[in-house]
Formats: sequence, structure tokens, C-alpha cells
Amino acid sequence: MELNEEQAIVAMPRIGDPAPSFTAVTTQGTINFPSDYHGSWSILFSHPADFTPVCTSEFITFASLEPKFSAVNCKLIGLSIDGLYSHIAWLRTIKEKIEYKGMKNVEVTFPLIEDISMNVARKYGMIQPNEDTTKAVRAVFFVDPKGVIRAMIYYPLSLGRNFDELYRVVVALQTADEFDVATPADWQVGDDIIIGPAGSCGTAEDRTHDKELNCQDWFFCTKELPKEVILDALLKEK
Ligand code: BEZ
Repeated sequence: MELNEEQAIVAMPRIGDPAPSFTAVTTQGTINFPSDYHGSWSILFSHPADFTPVCTSEFITFASLEPKFSAVNCKLIGLSIDGLYSHIAWLRTIKEKIEYKGMKNVEVTFPLIEDISMNVARKYGMIQPNEDTTKAVRAVFFVDPKGVIRAMIYYPLSLGRNFDELYRVVVALQTADEFDVATPADWQVGDDIIIGPAGSCGTAEDRTHDKELNCQDWFFCTKELPKEVILDALLKEK
């Protein structure tokens, strides 16, 4: 598909960038992002449209998991290119009528941004014209308490997100910050963590003798970090 100039020039924020700022009308009143969220982690996510089935299953799931995100100081903010009254009607219908995987009577209490103008969606590269020119893709931005984008994931319209994975990402980012470590493939809270790459020959040598580390070689060292220690630190941080 040929893109016109307006469609082709889209801002794509990057990891490490300050989250682009905006003021928006939401189902919970007007918000200023990211300034209103200073001091908290936040997940800003988009969905293609209200009153669509995959999005409905996602909202029920995310809203049901909200207390889990809240416990690790992470707030949720949704967005679609629909108006406020459509958002309100959809969220009311979800609560009154829709059941998904045993979750029912679910009230979505996090803000859902109306973005008919696409101003916010464009700033965050949520419109990806070869996927759809008028619907946002399923974008997820993880923003830290200083308003910096720390991770992002994009899914196409047809693919509902895995919300356990979004929680895992938040906790892994917080763990990396709190304990100055990295997290290996498929890491879950309680699994051994990774000690970052050695920065000098001396450090590489020292590591192989460090009794607290499990080094298979100088560049591959892991360490125990018990679940209770992580959760204690993350829950206390609030
Ligand atoms: C859905 O949420 O079901 C959906 C939305 C847009 C395109 C395809 C599916």
C-alpha cells in the first residue's frame, strides 16, 4: 500500500525516550500524561476499537488483573480512536452483559482515553497504516516513575495480548532497577537472575571465584534472588 506523506511520517518513540506528553479526555476525567503519573509505573496501551470481541476479552482480563498491577505501583491507561460516549457505553455493556473465562461483572476503573483526533495515537506510533489507517494497533508502553519509556510491545489487530506477560515485564523492569541485575529468557519471579556482562578482565576473573554466583563461564553468571525478597522490595517501594 502506498502511504501519503501524513501517514508515512509517524513518531515512533524509542526505549529510553521521555514518554511524549499529552492532555486527554478519558472515562475517568482529564489526564496529563506522563506528569500525573510521576512516581508510579504506568502502562499506556491502545486497542483497535470499542465493541469488538478481542478488545472486549482484553479489557475484561486487564481490569480483572488491575489490583495485581496496582500492588506493584503500576497504573493502567487505555486508548482507542473512539469517542467518550462510545467508551462509556462499551464499558457499561462489558460490566452488565459480558463474561469471559469466568470473569463477569467486571468494572473497568482505569482511564480510557478518547482519541478521535488520533493526536495521542500518532505521537506513540499506534497507527500503523499498513495494518489499519484508522484503528490503533495493540501497542503497549511501559513508562517508569520518571516518565521514561522502558519497554514497548506492539501486536496486530487480530492478536489478543498475554496480560501475564505484561505483568512479568513490569516486575522484571522493577527487579532490574532495584537489584541492578538482568533477567534471563522466560524469567519468572523467584527464578535465578543474571549478572550483567563483565566490564573488564579483572571483573571477569573475580566472578569465577565469587561463591555467591553460579558462573558456568566468566560471561554467564547467575544468582539466586528469592521471590520473597523481590516482592518485599517491590511492594515496599510504593
Ligand atoms: C477485535 O477486537 O475483535 C478486533 C478489532 C479489530 C480488528 C480485528 C479484531
